[in-house]
Amino acid sequence: MRKLFVEGGHPLKGVIRVSGAKNAVLKLMAAALLGHGRFVIRNVPEIRDVFTMLGVLQALGVEATLNDSTIFLNVETVRGEAPVALVQEMRASIQVMGPLLARLGWVRLSKPGGCAIGDRPIDLHLKNFKKLGAQIREEHGFITASTNGLVGKELYLDFPSVGATENLMMAATLAQGTTVIHNAAREPEIVDIQNFINLMGARVYGAGTSTITIKGVTQLGGADYAVIPDRIEAGSYLIAAAITRGAITIEHVIPQHLTAIVDKLQETGTEIKVGTDTIAVRGVQDLFPINILTQPYPGFATDLQPQYMALMTLAGGSSVIKETVYTNRFRQVEELRRMGADILLDSNAAVIKGVPQLSSALVHATDLRAGAALVLAGLAASGITEITGLDHIDRGYEKLVHKLQTVGGRIWRED
Ligand code: EPZ
Repeated sequence: MRKLFVEGGHPLKGVIRVSGAKNAVLKLMAAALLGHGRFVIRNVPEIRDVFTMLGVLQALGVEATLNDSTIFLNVETVRGEAPVALVQEMRASIQVMGPLLARLGWVRLSKPGGCAIGDRPIDLHLKNFKKLGAQIREEHGFITASTNGLVGKELYLDFPSVGATENLMMAATLAQGTTVIHNAAREPEIVDIQNFINLMGARVYGAGTSTITIKGVTQLGGADYAVIPDRIEAGSYLIAAAITRGAITIEHVIPQHLTAIVDKLQETGTEIKVGTDTIAVRGVQDLFPINILTQPYPGFATDLQPQYMALMTLAGGSSVIKETVYTNRFRQVEELRRMGADILLDSNAAVIKGVPQLSSALVHATDLRAGAALVLAGLAASGITEITGLDHIDRGYEKLVHKLQTVGGRIWRED
């Protein structure tokens, strides 16, 4: 069983460079299926999900390689069906549905599994593909979408779903006429997709706001593009500095993407200095307990909720965390309790009563961000914490052990 070992009690000090955004690059790779010819995607994090998506693209007939943080694609002939195993391995695979439906008029994918953080339907994707003129069939665990040609429409999302916004935006680039997505998600990764597909020749406007307009075109080409920095990885390292009472500068970030977490950390008393593409954090001994509510961007990111909870286990008082995006994203609570955290759960709210010190334990990562939370807790706990479930952590944090070691983190892995 592969394990991560973290010896707590060492304040982190130094500089960490943030990698490219996982939740952007996976979608850029999917968007390339809309185009023709050569693509270069730069600043790519070498994480498991990227390799999985490379496998999906190759299975769809795309020439795809990754070398030195750069992806090279050659998109000519594309198939409409990827191997079940690959698609089930990662929810983000569903993002190839919009591009394949628009390009080929047919796509068949395995229904994405739910995952550790709750039921994760794709009803908003499917309902709106139908509005654009697709027939959807769900049987034997597969979803088949087909169309004689998508036609632009006014769409409204019941919830600003990131994936639905992205899938529909990509599909609409090749629809006939204009599509408007109302109540669209506003995440920065969606702006990254807009910039990328517009380089390919699409005509998309408004990403980053709640209303996105897509004027359909008939053909899209290639692109050469660098992915934005990963705001969730960056936020995780800000919290690492705060929880170890250390001093870290993270570089190669877009500070505007981290406004909510920076604001909340400052409220806890953590000292933060924001530069043009850097954020310097200095942890303090006495942390104020500060409540948070997770919301779609620009609200507090649900993907930083478990990491922030780890920090609040050491605050001087009680704080409340409300999770409004997912139905079951408190899986880290059980594990943090094993380390001495005092947390009360009540449906989608957690009350965290700060304790003076966490203690090491054998804990298990149930999903990517819960895993990150356990690493952070281990960095602050007394003794050596052992963490299993590394597959989750490897999905989204490039060179995590190396980056933490370079700032004095006592962390190592045994495979
Ligand atoms: C993206 O997932 C991210 N993943 C998630 O990050 C992130 O937590 C999420 O956006 C919200 O910010 C990727 O980009 C690969 P949603 P996505 O559609 O697109 C419900 C991480 O740790 N919903 O905004 O799946 C859904 O069940 C991952 O990097 C529907 O009900 O998020 C969930 O409760 C975890 N019907 C909520 O909306 C739908 O059709 C948010 O989902 C679609 C979504």
